[in-house]
Amino acid sequence: MAPRGPGGPTSLVPCAAALLLALGVERALALPEICIQCPGSVQNLSEVALFCKTSKLTLHARCCLDQKGTILGLDLQNCSLKDPGPKFFQAHTAIIIDLQANPLKDDLVNTFHGFTQLQTLILPQNVSCPGGISAWNTITSYSDNQTCQGQRNLCNSTGDPEMCPENGSCAPDGPGLLQCLCADGFHGYKCTRQGLFSLIVFFGILGSTTLSISILLWETQRRKAKAS
Ligand SMILES: *[C@@H]1O[C@H](CO)[C@@H](O)[C@H](O)[C@H]1NC(C)=O
Ligand SMILES: *[C@@H]1O[C@H](CO)[C@@H](O)[C@H](O)[C@H]1NC(C)=O
Ligand SMILES: *[C@@H]1O[C@H](CO)[C@@H](O)[C@H](O)[C@H]1NC(C)=O
Ligand SMILES: *[C@@H]1O[C@H](CO)[C@@H](O)[C@H](O)[C@H]1NC(C)=O
Ligand SMILES: *[C@@H]1O[C@H](CO)[C@@H](O)[C@H](O)[C@H]1NC(C)=O
Ligand SMILES: *[C@@H]1O[C@H](CO)[C@@H](O)[C@H](O)[C@H]1NC(C)=O
Repeated sequence: MAPRGPGGPTSLVPCAAALLLALGVERALALPEICIQCPGSVQNLSEVALFCKTSKLTLHARCCLDQKGTILGLDLQNCSLKDPGPKFFQAHTAIIIDLQANPLKDDLVNTFHGFTQLQTLILPQNVSCPGGISAWNTITSYSDNQTCQGQRNLCNSTGDPEMCPENGSCAPDGPGLLQCLCADGFHGYKCTRQGLFSLIVFFGILGSTTLSISILLWETQRRKAKAS
């Protein structure tokens, strides 16, 4: 029999648990990755710094955060960004975002999907505001940048009551975007179906799983019975 030292498999288990715990704690304390993906910190005199100071929030790396760690401001100016990247959605709670002085490509419509709180967006001069002129109260062009200010709620600016189906309601979903939410108890395309859809699916799957396990057991039992 092979000798089993203190480094054997049994002592590995608590070690791994401790490591996982440490990683978990680390993750809880860490800043959202979007705040640190670009080196440096929020520029002293930027709009995001100003906002953070007047709202009595705290600056960390490229973000302005509240006490709970929610991102309310993001300053990614001068980060050599061609696009905001896959982590950008972490900032969907932001009220102000600065992306100026980046070589951005001009297709930001889906980038801001879900950014319903956004009120001030600062972009490079050659990038247009997402959603266009109807999505913002004011769009201003300067020589070095462009600001999109005051996100409009499309649900009531178009004044079209037919936009969402009868048992659905309209909700904003980011600049130039809206969604139709079905009323309680309704689901499906155009919110026309009633009932607890997810429960039916759940019990349906559970039921068929139970059935197949029963058949399997019955089959094996039958074979065993035959063999003996
Ligand atoms: C940023 O502002 C603070 C005071 O508001 C000042 O003490 C500090 O020197 C400034 N930093 C830079 C890099 O300008
Ligand atoms: C942008 O960043 C570079 C270094 O990455 C720095 O040299 C330059 O001064 C910055 N420009 C502005 C406008 O802050
Ligand atoms: C804006 O200009 C920069 C260079 O200054 C370029 O890299 C970028 O592709 C341009 N974006 C658009 C949408 O034209
Ligand atoms: C936009 O650029 C102008 C100069 O063209 C500058 O004065 C202004 O401070 C910039 N706005 C922001 C929000 O950085
Ligand atoms: C329309 O939007 C304004 C804010 O822009 C809001 O105060 C108002 O309640 C909205 N009306 C409806 C019907 O949603
Ligand atoms: C909307 O709900 C009402 C009752 O709540 C129902 O009578 C009506 O048929 C529903 N409309 C549609 C299009 O499903």
